Amino acid sequence: MIHARITGTGSFAPKKIITNQDLEKLVDTSDEWITERTGIKERRIAEKGQNTSDLAYEAGKKALKAAELTAQELDLILVATMTPDTILPSMGCVLQDKLGAKNAAAFDIAAACSGFIYGLSIADAFIKAGAYKNILLVGAEVLSRFTDWEDRTTCVLFGDGAGAVVIQRHAGKHGILSTHLHSDGSLGDLLHVPAGGAQHPASHDTIRKRMHFIKMKGNETFKAAVRALEGVVQEALEHNKVKPEEIDLLVPHQANLRIIQAMAQRLNMPMEKVVLTLPKYGNTSAASIPMALDEAVRDGRVKENHLLLFEAFGGGLTWASALVRW
Ligand code: COA
Repeated sequence: MIHARITGTGSFAPKKIITNQDLEKLVDTSDEWITERTGIKERRIAEKGQNTSDLAYEAGKKALKAAELTAQELDLILVATMTPDTILPSMGCVLQDKLGAKNAAAFDIAAACSGFIYGLSIADAFIKAGAYKNILLVGAEVLSRFTDWEDRTTCVLFGDGAGAVVIQRHAGKHGILSTHLHSDGSLGDLLHVPAGGAQHPASHDTIRKRMHFIKMKGNETFKAAVRALEGVVQEALEHNKVKPEEIDLLVPHQANLRIIQAMAQRLNMPMEKVVLTLPKYGNTSAASIPMALDEAVRDGRVKENHLLLFEAFGGGLTWASALVRW
């Protein structure tokens, strides 16, 4: 049986920390409000000149080292991001050049916070089809450059970072068992960046109206997220005929502690089985799952044969789940 197996992980977080107390000086908010409503205590922010591709490069290098693979051996690079350095070229191509991965095709995935699981699904399909054998999948974001630091409803939530996995063809039972992807474009305005694309290219007007920043209807997004995640997690369990108690670790997208706790509760799972990086990194969108996974791999929580459940939701709307036998 051919599987697409994660054989190496890596992550990178910029050094600069912004705490909730720091944010109290910027906008009308409090550590207490942010902690209670979100579970976030601090987030990392990229330095000036440090871009999404730089974060992706650091995480990617570590994942390659862990997989004992050279960049030249890669045949595909996928980057999930909604905050690329540039619209053109793609982050995939920029990363390919930085790594010197001359033999790899490269492209980006635009599925917001679900991008990493969308990437797992693409890698899984390509490997099973026999198209590629050695894939680097990176989730990388510099959300701080698209965050409105005058808007307290969003600026407390996001952070910068990158996480990467090497995915390889494996003749055996380990690897990605299933992925389930969903979208609902009719809810696009819950979470969006209005300008900077062909519809509203940059102009004095778009800048004056702060249209290049992330806008979110938080409460509606919250409700849509819980509904969507319940469904897609159930789908993963039923598809694989797996009972919740058989899951060894839940690696959720890190957006809000209350959403993560709600999912753990539905699965009747103690929080010890949930990988949580939200308090120190905030919501790093497509990077959040691979960053959390890398942490759990490196501190020994992920063991061979473990059953891992990933779940995510994000702008689009998009939502997704994956079940992985480690
Ligand atoms: N500090 C203090 N008060 C704040 C605040 C902040 N940072 N942000 C919002 N508020 C205020 C609001 O203005 C509102 O005040 P009002 O009642 O006087 O109008 C009040 O807090 C409640 O706002 P509401 O938006 O209803 O709060 P909430 O309980 O829904 O929590 C979020 C807000 C954003 C934390 C929550 O909705 C959330 O996490 N949503 C999901 C967002 C998400 O995950 N997005 C990413 C998708 S990948």
